[in-house]
Amino acid sequence: GTVKPPVHIKNEPVKPFGSNDTKDWDLLRASLMKFKSSSLEIPLIINGERIYYNNSKRSFYEQRNPADHKEILANVTQATDLDVKDAINAATLAKQKWYQLSFYDRAAIFLKAADLISTKYRYDMLAATMLGQGKNVYQAEIDCITELSDFFRFNVKYAHKLYKKQPIQSATGVWNKAEYRPLEGFVYAVSPFNFTAIAANLIGAPALMGNTVVWKPSQSATLSNYLLLTVLEEAGLPKGVINFIPGDPESITNEVLNDKNFGALHFTGSTNVFKQLYGKIQNGIMDGKYKDYPRIVGETGGKNFHLVHQNCNLTNAIFSTIRGAFEYQGQKCSATSRLYLPSSKSEEFLNDFANILKQGNMIPVNTAAGTISGGDLHGFMGPVIHEQSFNKLVKVIEDAKEDPDLEIVYGGQYDKSKGWFVGPTVIKCKDPKHKYMTTEFFGPILTVYEYPDGEFSQVCDLVNETSIYGLTGSIFAKDRDIINLADEKLKFAAGNFYINDKCTGAVVAQQWFGGARMSGTNDKSGGENILSRFVSIRNTKENF
Ligand code: SER
Repeated sequence: GTVKPPVHIKNEPVKPFGSNDTKDWDLLRASLMKFKSSSLEIPLIINGERIYYNNSKRSFYEQRNPADHKEILANVTQATDLDVKDAINAATLAKQKWYQLSFYDRAAIFLKAADLISTKYRYDMLAATMLGQGKNVYQAEIDCITELSDFFRFNVKYAHKLYKKQPIQSATGVWNKAEYRPLEGFVYAVSPFNFTAIAANLIGAPALMGNTVVWKPSQSATLSNYLLLTVLEEAGLPKGVINFIPGDPESITNEVLNDKNFGALHFTGSTNVFKQLYGKIQNGIMDGKYKDYPRIVGETGGKNFHLVHQNCNLTNAIFSTIRGAFEYQGQKCSATSRLYLPSSKSEEFLNDFANILKQGNMIPVNTAAGTISGGDLHGFMGPVIHEQSFNKLVKVIEDAKEDPDLEIVYGGQYDKSKGWFVGPTVIKCKDPKHKYMTTEFFGPILTVYEYPDGEFSQVCDLVNETSIYGLTGSIFAKDRDIINLADEKLKFAAGNFYINDKCTGAVVAQQWFGGARMSGTNDKSGGENILSRFVSIRNTKENF
């Protein structure tokens, strides 16, 4: 291949959809209208072939607009057990050619796809993500455009760096070589609803390293994910490299994890599902099912903290907490979900917080992402993803009303008449070890604990001890010794640690993303480490 590895890759800039920018808005509205009126039929894609439910005996599921749950966006073909086997076979066959292509040729496909997404398909990608996953235009931009194309481009840069690394010791008359083979088996990618970009990286990172992929997209993000794969095809992705098999998660997973050639799990989703898959894979190893020890790369949830010190820029802490907790309805794995306030500042913090939230023009709340008027697309919050999530969050709110240790100090409203809307909610907890301070709700519900001002060191210990997860967290403080104390005591409580900033919004190549403890294997998407999980090195020694 002739494509040079790009050395001047930059983060894709976020397009500002200002209120006057009619051309951008017109293009976006046209894309939204297209998806709203189409009820697209989505096939399986196995070895490049489209398989539709309506001319086969397969079943389908509906993907609906969470902001308007009567609206069907897509009817999605569901893979049968036999389809899963076909997808595995297609991946296994395609690998032979794919990994022998030069790295530059594989890289070219992802670089081209990133360009297509940030230009020709920008509005379609935005529309599919906004409508299907309940995002406003800004949240969609930072997901399916900038983060997504950044993943594709920076992975190329990092992979190139990795491939160049060679053993430094060679005795006279000897030449040693490191060869970065792909994994021998196929990669099973299981992607979440909340970021189209994450799905792109779950398939893209392994494929770039010469692996082939069997991909089960989220039932709530199939529309944007399908579009993504069609863009990759347009960019030149050979058939069989990424096989798209939407359908029932459990039966697909069972089929995949029974296959001898299963080589790796690349997962983002809930902690419970990840634990189950981890256990099944370990059992599979014990039962002698696999050729290899499958690689397990997973990122799950968090109960991410904002810890506020009495001496900090309170306005910054308030705005950061509003954004961290409620942007995308608290459905980022990084979302702020517990807050620790010094008692002397707690009232001021919560009053200002409530006033800002109430000012609809500053941060308009409960407007529907996905409707087609410009104003609504800018709405601060949209719907939660589906009925199941809505019901779960409503139960969290209703249970809080019954619990004497809990007090709802803001919000608590919900409305399902049109879409799955849950308003921003703040719940005070008397007991810092209450399950509301340790359980991830995955919605716009923030739990708060007030600590005595003089006990900052103890509260750091408390935050650490109650961190079952270890994904993200922030400290808001001015004094360096306070920042250092928190930094030291919270060393393992967050894989992404922020000082005076919200704990969401990691940018590819700038903040490598991921956490340990129950949050995952901390392999850091958006950084170079993750790519090394998808190669299996062979060392060659040659005597001259
Ligand atoms: N990477 C995203 C963030 O940091 C979450 O997945 O917010």
